[in-house]
Amino acid sequence: MSPSPPPTADNGSLPADTTRRVWLQGSLGLTLALAFASLSSCASPLGSRASSLGGAPPKLGFKSIPPSTADAIQVPEGYVAEAIAPWGDPVGIAGAMPAFRPDAGNSAAEQALQFGMHHDGMHFYPLGDGAEGSRRGLLAINHEYVDDGLLHRDGTANWSAEKVRKAQAAHGVSVSEVALQNGSWQLQRPSPCARRFTASTPFAVGGPAAGHALMQTAADPAGRTVLGTIGNCASGITPWGTYLSGEENWAGYFESAEQPDADQRRWNMRKNSWTRWAAHDERFDARRHPNEFHRFGWVVEIDPMDPTSTPVKRTAVGRAAHEGAWVAVTRDGRAVVYSGEDAAFEYIYKFVSRDRIAPAGQGKTAAQANHALLDHGTLYVARFDADGTGRWLPLVQGRGPLTPAKGFADQGEVVIKARQASDALGGTRMDRPEWIAIDPDSREVFCTLTNNRDRGAPGRPGVDAANPRANNSMGHIIRWVDDGDFDGETLAWSHLLLAGDPENSRPEARGNVRGDAFACPDGLTRDARGVLWIQCDMSTSAMGKGELARLGNNQMLACDPATGEVRRFLTGPVGCEIAGCTFTPDGRSMFINVQHPGETPSERSDPAQPTRYSSWPEGPGAARPRSATVVIRKRDGGIVGT
Ligand code: FEO
Ligand code: CA
Ligand code: CA
Repeated sequence: MSPSPPPTADNGSLPADTTRRVWLQGSLGLTLALAFASLSSCASPLGSRASSLGGAPPKLGFKSIPPSTADAIQVPEGYVAEAIAPWGDPVGIAGAMPAFRPDAGNSAAEQALQFGMHHDGMHFYPLGDGAEGSRRGLLAINHEYVDDGLLHRDGTANWSAEKVRKAQAAHGVSVSEVALQNGSWQLQRPSPCARRFTASTPFAVGGPAAGHALMQTAADPAGRTVLGTIGNCASGITPWGTYLSGEENWAGYFESAEQPDADQRRWNMRKNSWTRWAAHDERFDARRHPNEFHRFGWVVEIDPMDPTSTPVKRTAVGRAAHEGAWVAVTRDGRAVVYSGEDAAFEYIYKFVSRDRIAPAGQGKTAAQANHALLDHGTLYVARFDADGTGRWLPLVQGRGPLTPAKGFADQGEVVIKARQASDALGGTRMDRPEWIAIDPDSREVFCTLTNNRDRGAPGRPGVDAANPRANNSMGHIIRWVDDGDFDGETLAWSHLLLAGDPENSRPEARGNVRGDAFACPDGLTRDARGVLWIQCDMSTSAMGKGELARLGNNQMLACDPATGEVRRFLTGPVGCEIAGCTFTPDGRSMFINVQHPGETPSERSDPAQPTRYSSWPEGPGAARPRSATVVIRKRDGGIVGT
């Protein structure tokens, strides 16, 4: 952390543009003001109000910082960063706020009331209008996975049902309330909105896989209620005020028979899961409950403003190793959900809703008025052609190869087996699609492709125009515009940049970045001014070595997509990745997440040496490292990035 005086409590806000707003009334009487058109950017609560920020000053107004290997957050001169909401602190449920035990001694039941581990995607929901909405809000935060070496006092020794329950309770999503008080952001506890979603929380199922035979289990013969969400990686938001979370690395939670079947192999199920949950929770044993496996890999929708609402798995958006989901709006008001799957040689998807987004009214919030919007529509997989054009190929049962004879009996089976359907259609196999950011004005869609060292390896797919580098250790960012509108079935694409370090001896690892070198782009968020915030996830095993030797710890950079200029804005503590990015409506507070500080190059931390690599955020000599949210503000109270 950068020790400093508190930032100025500057409460200035952008001029309201009431002609472009809808008002969403939360069930608690909390007013959520969202810029309707701007939210099609899904990357910022400001979106296309960028024009109201006036003039055309340079987009990147800060002085870039060098790479760092310090066990600390570094930000540019004139900025201050503060950690809040670390793993294990109570989220603020009234009467149920167990304190964090620094020796990892909290029980599973206590963990279910606390922030989970490994913070990832995140969104700030203003509570109130105008300046008030930039001083108070809800934070919805994904907790992607856990490090059992840090989660339990003795790690995986004496593996037990209690340890499995604690690991499950540290997964999922948290909702908490935060407020800016005396120049510093603080958790508000208790809060009527504070809530945890874990690997045990009941989720409804919507869309064509709801009730499908492949979704039915002994515990849920109707196939319509799934316990839990796992692998929650990136987040998106909807124009109707809900939160979307992608289930990414769920396949590794299941254990197969000695020989997984063809479907299980296509999804990388293994005989031994790395989580070892099946030892004490039989639903993760696919030999006993083979359909439980089909009940994960979905985009889940949560209404953070209504603590009584039931979260839903949206199966029409397709089953995948979903990084996340990001929403654009067509000119006629339909929702288009873009999503990639973060796995080597897998796909980019989009879903176009059948119906238009409904306004709030007649006693319903916007979230309630659109409760089934993502259950009906058309799913597509992307094909990027060598001539710079491309096509969205519809995953519609009965069309082309998606027939019963080929294993697709109905649309439910198509979405459950979206990978196999995309194989049959000939989608482009990408270099690990991660976050997506959308410019609602230019209709450009940007997607990070984090890396793929297997590209061009023996027996693996070679390079193609969209994934042009063999042994792609550095990653790249692709962009496209769908022809006509966001629902267009053809597109034009190009590369925003190829990441890399110009000092590298291997030409393919040098990249073409105009500005500060970086590798492995993962998080990508477009702010109100059109700046793309790029967050890096170099793996801990590769960081600081070889072609990544000069890049330091994982970092965040800002890119002006108009010029391609990239500047380093933040460097993280040892062993972390930087994830999640959201802003207050006034653009003056930025929230990001530090995930897995102190991660070891091996599979799990050594419980006997929890501070071996990092003790962030508490600092040297303190307790074990903890994932946490970091709030960044300018000392002069200005808009972040200017
Ligand atoms: Fe969870 Fe794709 O990073
Ligand atoms: Ca990610
Ligand atoms: Ca990643």
